Amino acid sequence: MINAGTLVLKRWEPEWADELTAAVRESLPELKPFLPWATDDYELSGSRAYLASADQSWEKGTDFQYAIFTAVGDLIGSIGLHTRMGPDVMEIGYWLRSPFAGQGHMTTAVQALTRVAVTLPGITRVAIKHDARNTGSARVAEKAGFTETSRRVTDSGDTEITRERPAA
Ligand SMILES: CC(C)(COP(=O)(O)OP(=O)(O)OC[C@H]1O[C@@H](n2cnc3c(N)ncnc32)[C@H](O)[C@@H]1OP(=O)(O)O)[C@@H](O)C(=O)NCCC(=O)NCCS
Repeated sequence: MINAGTLVLKRWEPEWADELTAAVRESLPELKPFLPWATDDYELSGSRAYLASADQSWEKGTDFQYAIFTAVGDLIGSIGLHTRMGPDVMEIGYWLRSPFAGQGHMTTAVQALTRVAVTLPGITRVAIKHDARNTGSARVAEKAGFTETSRRVTDSGDTEITRERPAA
């Protein structure tokens, strides 16, 4: 568990599958443009599969996914650390439940998880990748101190921006 001041980040648990499904479904209009797994037919089976896979990845040490809760216990989104960029980088990914957007929550969560990531052995930098059209995500990364280091055109023709923050 990570204490993020007004928020708490907790490793995902299987019993939150129903709430995860509700959170995703009510956020689909905002998630669909940027997250390929967020589709109109998203349902409980998708949440169960995700939670099983998140559990396995945590045990393997490749990905560390947390549910985000408010101080009063609302499940408002998800944030994770990913090792896929290489041994010295932690990549942060996230999404927020739409009714809770625009209140600074994701910036708070990113700052808290970044503080943890930079203390991990061998980590020299933390990264966030986002679509160039994703102004909200760009702003979260900027506010959390991440600056652009590269951009590339993906196979689908979109522009992906990488922002990074050094560990020290
Ligand atoms: C992007 C997202 C994580 C932001 O979460 P949040 O809790 O609302 O973020 P914060 O409140 O901490 O900060 C949002 C900032 O972006 C700005 N913003 C949000 N949407 C915006 C938009 N469409 N255009 C311009 N600015 C926008 C807000 O004004 C705020 O900046 P400010 O504090 O300078 O006013 C959330 O909207 C989301 O989950 N979107 C869909 C999924 C997604 O894109 N995930 C990231 C993939 S890389």
